[in-house]
Amino acid sequence: MCGIFGYIGHKTNAPTIVLEGLKRLEYRGYDSWGVAVVPEGDAENILVKKKAGKIGAATVTSMPKGTLAFGHTRWATHGGVTDVNAHPHLDCTKTIAVIHNGIVENYEALKEMLTKEGHHFVSQTDTEIIAHLVEENLKAMKPAIRDAQPAFSKAVQKAFNALDGLNAIILINTTSHEMVAARNGSPLVVGFGDGENFLASDPAALLPHTKQVHYLEDDEMVIVRPDAIHIFNARTGERVRPRKQLLTWTEKDAEKGQYPYFMLKEIYEQPGLMSEIASESTEQAKELAKQFATAYRVYVVGAGTSGHAARAASYLFSDISAHLINWGIASEFDHRLNVIPEKSLVVALSQSGETMDLMEVVKKAKAKGIGVVSIVNVVGSSLWRMADFRMPIGAGPEKGVASTKAFTSKIAHLILIAYAMKGNISDGQKLLIRAAKSAKEAVSESNVKRIKALAAKMKSVEHMFVVGKGISYPAAQECALKIKEISYIHAEGVAAGELKHGPLALVTKGTPCIVIAPNDETYRDVLGSAMEMKARGGHIIGFSYKNDEVFDDYIPVADAGEATIIPNVIVAQLLAYYLTLERGFDPDMPRNLAKSVTVK
Ligand code: F6R
Repeated sequence: MCGIFGYIGHKTNAPTIVLEGLKRLEYRGYDSWGVAVVPEGDAENILVKKKAGKIGAATVTSMPKGTLAFGHTRWATHGGVTDVNAHPHLDCTKTIAVIHNGIVENYEALKEMLTKEGHHFVSQTDTEIIAHLVEENLKAMKPAIRDAQPAFSKAVQKAFNALDGLNAIILINTTSHEMVAARNGSPLVVGFGDGENFLASDPAALLPHTKQVHYLEDDEMVIVRPDAIHIFNARTGERVRPRKQLLTWTEKDAEKGQYPYFMLKEIYEQPGLMSEIASESTEQAKELAKQFATAYRVYVVGAGTSGHAARAASYLFSDISAHLINWGIASEFDHRLNVIPEKSLVVALSQSGETMDLMEVVKKAKAKGIGVVSIVNVVGSSLWRMADFRMPIGAGPEKGVASTKAFTSKIAHLILIAYAMKGNISDGQKLLIRAAKSAKEAVSESNVKRIKALAAKMKSVEHMFVVGKGISYPAAQECALKIKEISYIHAEGVAAGELKHGPLALVTKGTPCIVIAPNDETYRDVLGSAMEMKARGGHIIGFSYKNDEVFDDYIPVADAGEATIIPNVIVAQLLAYYLTLERGFDPDMPRNLAKSVTVK
């Protein structure tokens, strides 16, 4: 959710380096931002620039030069969206600064204690108490200890251990030239440079500087200096050897290139990704198929778009390999964990690998001795590291807040695994090649022209239905989610058979009803539903392999057998994208949403 970027090194434009880092994190969604620098020379205070709103064309060139700076993009939890509540926050002496992701659950008690000790607070945030707590811890030290090098990190360690909740914190001060950070729950990555080092909440922000990283585990603390990085356990004090990993993404992968928005770039990448997965992922799919086949039961779990992929998985496995697998939404899965039988397998689907609801499921599953497979896009992320078996989605950085290519890539992997379970992975590969071809037609110039015209026609509607049956039901839900999250039109994904059990009451003259009608056993039934809606005045928009007289508008989607959900969802993504532009919104940064949901 919030973004963190910190720099310490030999360059004196640390504030600008940090602001550039924050810009690379903008895609995560935020409502205010700020940068703090320890000025070069004898300055006594840390200097901060922070503002509500987006960074836009703002600069930090007016800030003093310095070789140590950090910054934050905030997504408000405690306290409104104001300049004062933006991070970094300072202590009373203005010599200690903190940035923070997460929620300090015991902040009221800590604030009361600190207020009694005479601390003065200027913001409404839970974060500010951390700076004061470190100040208080330093005050409590004997002068000889306080003046020694490790005093600051010891004070931060003590403060971190006093916080309840899932938090990532970084602190700097004017005396010891270092960043001190600790994490529990919220992600934090250390980047190793040459005479300079970095901290970030997201590895993509580090790409222009370094590809060598260490992902902090829960309870790990790090002291980052220009020429040294010390990692240790915050609870026990034990030293931890850095587990260096090499980032595989390139800087170019994380840029928009010729596209006006990340979302459009990511939509267009999908045909190529389907072919890549078909040719490169068979060994991993076979390996996972073995795990699926030997598990007593398989539970595929995800949140949001990943939850839709989990639901789609249940159809794919029954249709392709005749296996009944279970699926669930992460935030609703808790109570089911108690009754999951031994020797089952939980399969966690996630783009970011940091979704807190899903991490909770995985933690509880592991505590019960249930095996966990993670299929995630960010290699090295928390869910990646927590799993017993892992598979990279391999979609490259996904920066548009609305998930696109990670969804279709997850589906492609699940198709391969299902075919591997059937013992016929080459048919799965052929199917994906077909899906790639159909996806290419979905994004072709002529199709995009049709979709743009449809978006222009629909831009003023307030509500719509998206109807599908079988695997086209999760496709309909995903289509509705894309439309509502970026264009702010209310859209509801409905199972065709459920229409007459309630939703049909809302279909009146002109109600837009998208109908997903692929060339499978659901075709007749779905067309029947379309006719029922049309009879009530519904405006029927068909996504189908052939036109039908019931459709008032029609977007062709070439048949790709069991993989037709892929082009269907791509068409939906394009419709959502163009509806958003028609309505004058930014498709990459929908209001109230963050790319990576690291809180419960
Ligand atoms: C919707 C969207 C979200 C995510 C959800 C889970 O477009 O992006 O619904 O799918 O927050 O995120 P991951 O897949 O990172 O676990």
